[in-house]
Amino acid sequence: MTEPEIGELHSLIERIAKKKLPAEKFVPGKTTVNYAAPLFGAEEINAVVDSLFTGWLAEGKLTRKFEQEFAKYVGCRDSIVTNSGSSALLLAFAALKSPRIENNLKEGDEVITSALTFPTSLNSVILNSLNPVLVDVERHSYNMNPKTVEEMITRKTRALLVLHHLGNPCRMDELTRIAKEHNLFLVEDCCDAHGASFNGKRVGSFGDAGCFSFYAAHAFTMGEGGSITLNNEKLYPLIYSLKTCGLDENAFKDPSKRTLYTSIGYKMRIIELQAAMGLQQLKKLPGFVEKRRQNFSKIVKGLKKFSDFLEFPTEEKGAKAAWFSVPITIKENAPFSRTELIDFLRNARIETRLLLGGNVLKQPAYAGFKIRSSSLPVTDFFHSQSFYVGCHPGMTDEMIDYVVEKFEGFMSGHGK
Ligand SMILES: Cc1ncc(COP(=O)(O)O)c(C=O)c1O
Repeated sequence: MTEPEIGELHSLIERIAKKKLPAEKFVPGKTTVNYAAPLFGAEEINAVVDSLFTGWLAEGKLTRKFEQEFAKYVGCRDSIVTNSGSSALLLAFAALKSPRIENNLKEGDEVITSALTFPTSLNSVILNSLNPVLVDVERHSYNMNPKTVEEMITRKTRALLVLHHLGNPCRMDELTRIAKEHNLFLVEDCCDAHGASFNGKRVGSFGDAGCFSFYAAHAFTMGEGGSITLNNEKLYPLIYSLKTCGLDENAFKDPSKRTLYTSIGYKMRIIELQAAMGLQQLKKLPGFVEKRRQNFSKIVKGLKKFSDFLEFPTEEKGAKAAWFSVPITIKENAPFSRTELIDFLRNARIETRLLLGGNVLKQPAYAGFKIRSSSLPVTDFFHSQSFYVGCHPGMTDEMIDYVVEKFEGFMSGHGK
């Protein structure tokens, strides 16, 4: 294809994208208000098309460029892309268990994490033969309580897996202090928190590894995908090898090492088209984060009048959330149930979701496991009383007004 032909193709795609994206015009009551939705346009489609025309499909130059730019965005030395956030988490703990790492984790060592979690976050610990220890979350932030973390530390405790719940950063001053004082590895689950920060520092840059997801519902996307952000230069070659079948990290640079396997690896790579899309989405991330924050504020402002019955999370001092969604908790005294409210919203075509895996110990998958935990009153409360609605950047003021209006309709039927 010649340059002018490519230019023509790009213009055609731009014209079509303008007409076709977003796929549906919002019609109140008819169009679903999604809990999440990817937002992309001609830039992403053209980048993917251009990438295809290079003839290169596996990870290549664009993937390496994406890794550099994402590391820069997060404020880390390196980043390594993976095929999902779940893989990023699995690899982070696999690497910390490697004998190539000083003072590495050993089978049966304890990792403290939040009981209000996503299953594959917890599974990254279990599948690496480590023992998770679950702690309760705080009612205002939905995040692990540093005081409880400290109380649960034993001589078997070797790591913290900190989860920034639905984009709200944890108290990283306290958690990094605890990790340092007790000589613990610190891994951050930032799968829902791209762009969030604490005291001006982006999440994913505080510990040994930050794990991100680029799944279609998340802050920015490549369809599926993930990344590990790193400041530890020893972890980089190891994780690179672990995600690449165990190949030596220099296998692609040094022909004599092309079939040299130095770790027991997985295959968790992406394809170059994903990186092409990711590079375009990354440029839009700061704008997406701001729009999420604005949408979150508008929705909470609209629903604040119902705070006798509903409550919403707040940010810690120094934290800047990158809200994945608007978590809503129905208070103890509310004269209606969560099911009644969610059903009402569903009938009004407003999507809701429960909080990730809720109290993950209540999931049947973990029934046979003996997992040590603190008492979990807040996590249990959220498990039965909370849900969320979307605040994604594709949500317009018209959609937000509609959501608030529908809550008003529901509440007026319950004496408010
Ligand atoms: C907190 C958290 N951790 C991990 C993951 C896993 O990410 P992925 O779906 O990319 O595997 C998710 C996915 O939504 C998540 O919300």
